[in-house]
Amino acid sequence: MFRVGLIGCGGISAVHAHVLRELENTDLIACADVIPERSARYGCAAYADWREMLDREKPDAVHLCTPHSLHPVMAAEAASRGIAVFTEKPPAIDLAGWEQVKAAARRVPVGVCFQNRFHPHIQTCKRFLREGTYGALQGMRAFVTWNRTAQYYAAADWKGKWATEGGGALINQAIHTLDLLIGFLGMPDQAEAMMGNHRLRGAIEVEDTAEIYLRRGDVPALLYASNAYSQDAPVMIELHFATAVVRLEGDVMTILRDGQKQEIPCVTDPVIGRSYWGAGHKACIAAFYRSIETGAPYPNDPASCEATMQTLLSLYDQCRMGDTLLSSGRK
Ligand SMILES: NC(=O)c1ccc[n+]([C@@H]2O[C@H](COP(=O)([O-])OP(=O)(O)OC[C@H]3O[C@@H](n4cnc5c(N)ncnc54)[C@H](O)[C@@H]3O)[C@@H](O)[C@H]2O)c1
Repeated sequence: MFRVGLIGCGGISAVHAHVLRELENTDLIACADVIPERSARYGCAAYADWREMLDREKPDAVHLCTPHSLHPVMAAEAASRGIAVFTEKPPAIDLAGWEQVKAAARRVPVGVCFQNRFHPHIQTCKRFLREGTYGALQGMRAFVTWNRTAQYYAAADWKGKWATEGGGALINQAIHTLDLLIGFLGMPDQAEAMMGNHRLRGAIEVEDTAEIYLRRGDVPALLYASNAYSQDAPVMIELHFATAVVRLEGDVMTILRDGQKQEIPCVTDPVIGRSYWGAGHKACIAAFYRSIETGAPYPNDPASCEATMQTLLSLYDQCRMGDTLLSSGRK
């Protein structure tokens, strides 16, 4: 049984706590949050100081559900105590932080919560690519159009700021989709972005909208990510193969081929928490502990995130100068 600690007891922590209680080989023993009523919300040992929690409880693993900028230092300190780390995305907001996370992974198992990689339809698309089911990949496009208001940002003091969130719609909401596109494409030869702040200008420093162009060889991948929509629309990812178009929208896969349209729904685990978080956390966390038990590689280790992180950080590098968002990008 893994004795697990959790740091950061806000929104997403409820999903981690639920899964850690549901799995047969994990036991949530302690929580830390700077807000006392939050650290107490799961009824286990509660701490205001996460380092004290690590030192006193000596958990086998710790989950990081804190603001983005804190993930690297928390991963490094846990690793220095021999404690395995499961971090929420993004693992870091800059290259120095990313190096810290990778260094932690050389000492202890480190997993990154890209839970959508575990979606059955994503796995099926990977198989189509591997087996050449519909011929070679020609291109991809994806839309993440969600609704994040000024009130959403005002409710958490770290969101909407370069120093603590590291960006906006791309690094927080659309990072999963960027990661999936890169998972299909491989490391892009070209990655360019334009970012803007349309609806939330004045309310947040970071982008509410990003337009991304990736290319590997002759294959383009386009991503449009915006928090300025009227609702949280299902994410759409389309793969254009030589003989078919495969479109994923929410939990439905549509295959368009020879003028025919086939719709394949997917039964996933029940969603815990908000619908747009998806249902992948349980599979993603369960696989982490299984990999520690068996010694098998974990598919969401930092090495598997290298292309995503390098691309993500270079896109921000093009669109940001200090704390200023460059509206047209600089290549
Ligand atoms: N995988 C997903 O689909 C998904 C979904 C939502 C959020 N997330 C990620 O989870 C993380 C948290 O997001 P959230 O929406 O739950 O944020 P949140 O603001 O609701 O929660 C963060 C918590 O961390 C606490 N905290 C801040 N500084 C701390 C410190 N020094 N020590 C201990 N606790 C501290 C805050 O008090 C807060 O309770 C982010 O990395 C976010 O990107 C991932």
